[in-house]
Amino acid sequence: MSHFTDFFELYFVSLKIKGKRMTKITMLSLVAAAVLYTGCGEDATDSATKAVESTKEAASHAADATTKAAKEAGAAVEKAADKAVEATKEAAEATKEAAVEALDSAEKAVGTAVAGAVDSIIESAGKEAYAKCAGCHGADGKTKALGKSPVIAGQSKEDLMSQLKEYKAGTRNKYGMGNLMKGQVATMDDTTIEALSIYISKMK
Ligand code: HEC
Repeated sequence: MSHFTDFFELYFVSLKIKGKRMTKITMLSLVAAAVLYTGCGEDATDSATKAVESTKEAASHAADATTKAAKEAGAAVEKAADKAVEATKEAAEATKEAAVEALDSAEKAVGTAVAGAVDSIIESAGKEAYAKCAGCHGADGKTKALGKSPVIAGQSKEDLMSQLKEYKAGTRNKYGMGNLMKGQVATMDDTTIEALSIYISKMK
């Protein structure tokens, strides 16, 4: 702009000097003024545009940086939250696993205890019921009863059960002495027959 004012000063000075006469100099001066004015105007517009652009750019950089920072902060918070959730899950999982393990071993212990108790009840019931059989079949179940019956020790539980049930029903008479055996098991219930069969099957 300084060219512009400088020029007009010169111009007005020249007008004072020359009076109201339009000389070639004043015409040239006006043209020059117009050129300078336009030039200055363009310069001003340019720098205004540039200023606006760089302001915009700065604002956009600032906005970008803010967005980036916000994103980063958000991501960090999310990550921390994820980690916390993960840790909580892991802790819950560990507690659950420990509880399940404890329950498992408790169940196993109870199961073993119950199974052991049942086994010994069956064994003593079988042993007790066998007392009246030992006279003919032998304490070890290896005597051929009255020289007729095969060795009963070690026969399968299933075979022994079906034979004894048939004697009880009166439908078995393999060696001509089925009636004698019927008398032995006639009043025996199924549970005692089963316990007895298990006991004899385990004789060695
Ligand atoms: C007085 C002797 C005597 C007594 C006591 C006796 N048994 Fe027998 N047992 C026999 C005879 C004899 C036979 C063969 C019966 C037949 O002809 O089928 C036999 C057969 C059996 C058989 C079939 C064996 C086979 O392989 O065919 C079984 C099982 C058996 N007895 C179990 C018992 C049981 C269990 C008792 C006790 C509750 C018992 N017996 C008591 C004499 C006896």
